[in-house]
Amino acid sequence: MKGIILAGGSATRLYPVTLAVSKQMLPVYDKPMIYYPLSTLMMAGIKEVLIISTPTHLPAFENLLGSGAKLGMKFTYKIQEKPVGLADAFILGEDFIGDDNVALILGDNMIYGSRIERVLKAASHLKEGGIIFGYQVADPTSYGVVEIDSEGKALSIEEKPRVPKSNFAVPGIYFYDNTVIEIAKSIQPSERGELEITDVNKVYMQQGKLQVIPLGNGYAWFDTGSPDRLSDAADFVKAIELRQGVQIACLEEIAYHNEWISKEQVLEEAEKYKKTEYGKYLKKIIEQDFKQYKAIYESDLFDAGQ
Ligand code: DAU
Repeated sequence: MKGIILAGGSATRLYPVTLAVSKQMLPVYDKPMIYYPLSTLMMAGIKEVLIISTPTHLPAFENLLGSGAKLGMKFTYKIQEKPVGLADAFILGEDFIGDDNVALILGDNMIYGSRIERVLKAASHLKEGGIIFGYQVADPTSYGVVEIDSEGKALSIEEKPRVPKSNFAVPGIYFYDNTVIEIAKSIQPSERGELEITDVNKVYMQQGKLQVIPLGNGYAWFDTGSPDRLSDAADFVKAIELRQGVQIACLEEIAYHNEWISKEQVLEEAEKYKKTEYGKYLKKIIEQDFKQYKAIYESDLFDAGQ
């Protein structure tokens, strides 16, 4: 499976902060925002990632992330001239996707939870159709909203409904089979003039092929599109990192655990960041060898402890 991060748009809700800077480059506590969705794709086991952004901002992402080789990954970059909608990602990404399945994540979305890696890996093995997530929020009116049956099949899905049929907002991470390219090409722009991801999901739903995974209490999901939500996400990351002494979205750590890079490569990066907590943490994961706990994390014992 391949991955796409959509990191364009105009981010007018964050003006004046985003007048000259890409939203997805803003810090969420101690890392650039795009690290978080990138880490999500990595946890799903996805090595090849297309990063899409505006003509102005794309070069900054190339500077930040490079070829991906330092993470044992491969990054490709593509300009989106105008923010014509989330589903445009599959049209822009057609050559990149090729014959593969694809996961799309929005560059301003952040998901965290103890078992998220397992959930993501399972979703990345999808054979047919689409997999999306449902996350309960008090007020879902500013999101896609999905209604599901007891087996997780989507019954209805609407974009920013005034009267929502459920409290399940749809986070900005989506897994699809290869037909998503043709589906994206077939849909029409909405009233707000965008190719809506919700319309893509509706096609899968009408085919009876849209599976929804409800994310329960043990998960946190943020979209960082407004000043309050951005600050909430930063507070959350800070609280977890300081309390537990762990890092959220530490790319080198995930690459190392995925066995995409060696100890030596992690230590090389640690040297670069040695004046920061991030750098110290990279050294620590090698010294303490958290990998030894991998078997426990993957066992039923771990489930019992959740
Ligand atoms: O955050 C989850 C929500 O994201 C979903 O629940 C909605 O169903 C989905 O439509 C989307 O809603 P938003 O109104 O939050 O989407 P927004 O237009 O803010 O775009 C999300 C991100 O994608 C944002 O970081 C900018 C980027 N973007 C957006 C568009 C329309 C692009 O890079 N290109 C685009 O053409």
